[in-house]
Amino acid sequence: MIEDLYRSRTARSAALYAEACRVFPAGLTHDSRATSPYPIYVARAAGARKWDVDGNEYVDYFGGHGALLFGHGHAPVVEAVQRQVTLGTHWGAAHELELRWGELVQRLVPSAERVRFTGSGTEATQLAMRLARAYTGKSKIVRFVGHFHGWHDQVAGGAMSHFDGSVPAGIPAALVGETLLLSADRAEPVLETLHSRTDVAAVIVEPSGASWGQVPLAPGFLAALREATRSRGVVLIFDEVITGFRWSRGGAQARIGVIPDVTVLAKILAGGLPGGAVAGAKDILDQLDPVAAKTAGREKIGHQGTFNANPLCAAAGAATLSLLETDDACARAEATAQELRSGMRRVLVEEGVPWGIFGEASVFVIFPNPGGLAIDPASFDPLRLGFKGLKGARNPQLNNRVRLALLAHGVDIAGGPGGFVSAAHGAHEVADTLDAWRRALRALKTEPALMK
Ligand SMILES: Cc1ncc(COP(=O)(O)O)c(C=O)c1O
Repeated sequence: MIEDLYRSRTARSAALYAEACRVFPAGLTHDSRATSPYPIYVARAAGARKWDVDGNEYVDYFGGHGALLFGHGHAPVVEAVQRQVTLGTHWGAAHELELRWGELVQRLVPSAERVRFTGSGTEATQLAMRLARAYTGKSKIVRFVGHFHGWHDQVAGGAMSHFDGSVPAGIPAALVGETLLLSADRAEPVLETLHSRTDVAAVIVEPSGASWGQVPLAPGFLAALREATRSRGVVLIFDEVITGFRWSRGGAQARIGVIPDVTVLAKILAGGLPGGAVAGAKDILDQLDPVAAKTAGREKIGHQGTFNANPLCAAAGAATLSLLETDDACARAEATAQELRSGMRRVLVEEGVPWGIFGEASVFVIFPNPGGLAIDPASFDPLRLGFKGLKGARNPQLNNRVRLALLAHGVDIAGGPGGFVSAAHGAHEVADTLDAWRRALRALKTEPALMK
């Protein structure tokens, strides 16, 4: 039994979790870290690997929730943070590092005429929406079912639940009504909405498709959005919190060749420390500048945040982005991810498991076929299933089982299920993962209720 094996390896994690349940709701500090019967407690990490408190080693694809392109403890990033921590963790002042960090964003991200740092990706999507509404004088924001933009009130429903647009507990219905939740399966209805309405301030989209590509977008979708938003004076916001500095050094926009008006960044941006940013067209960002706003006849938009461009985060972020300028770590991580995806597919075929493996750039997504569809892993095409067949059909219990089976065999993935490959992953990690994948699938086959 998978759970028995997991429990036998992780006694100390079990004990810590029992204690944590007396401190934290559900014993957790982030919904996505939930693991049944309990999560592993990690003690340290290096490169592409991490170790739990019981001494077990894992190939890590959780990747700091996607924040670590160079892997754990990359020496130049660690050195930059070590240097900074002795100089001051918070100066409450402008500083040169924030400037260098912002310049790197400007050079790498095509749409980044101006940059404003925030404390997180959630804060950044909120600011992007405020800027777009102020800029256009309109109120509605188009967003897409299953696309995740953080946890604030305006974007919480329809991302992980309430896919029908219903109002989640704790969130005012009036606020939910200010966003138009549309399906991203087909461009035409979205274009019709944009053409028929006059109250839309912005469209916000994960350019990977929902949740880092768990529901990919059809080719041409983003270009069509760009065209329609431009012609209607609607602000196009790319949420590149995951894809920024991962899909390519310039993010999804540079990879796909569709440039938004506003880009939301976080994760890799801050090199594994907290941080986010809104980058984009000068006219839009300049609403934050009192003089420029007055000159343009606009109201200055307020934005604070104690930890904006915090020196420690700036040190990690600037070190990471300056490495990226000279070393295409995105390409290296992508090459490894391609090997991993095709290897995982091959193992599915060899083991006779009708699941799918897909993903773009340096991520991989496992489709554990909760509905028992007839699937040939070698030719699985996620686009055919759309949101309802993919993220909309997710079975959390099955996903947890897949994750647990891999954990029990020395691999940690994100709950998707799937994961983030870093530039520190290489042939060794791919080989270890494929071996674990085969053993995990064989263990899962002994639990036939899960393997339709
Ligand atoms: C696409 C996307 N947008 C926004 C966020 C929110 O970022 P943060 O967790 O830094 O608030 C996330 C977090 O996973 C994300 O994946």
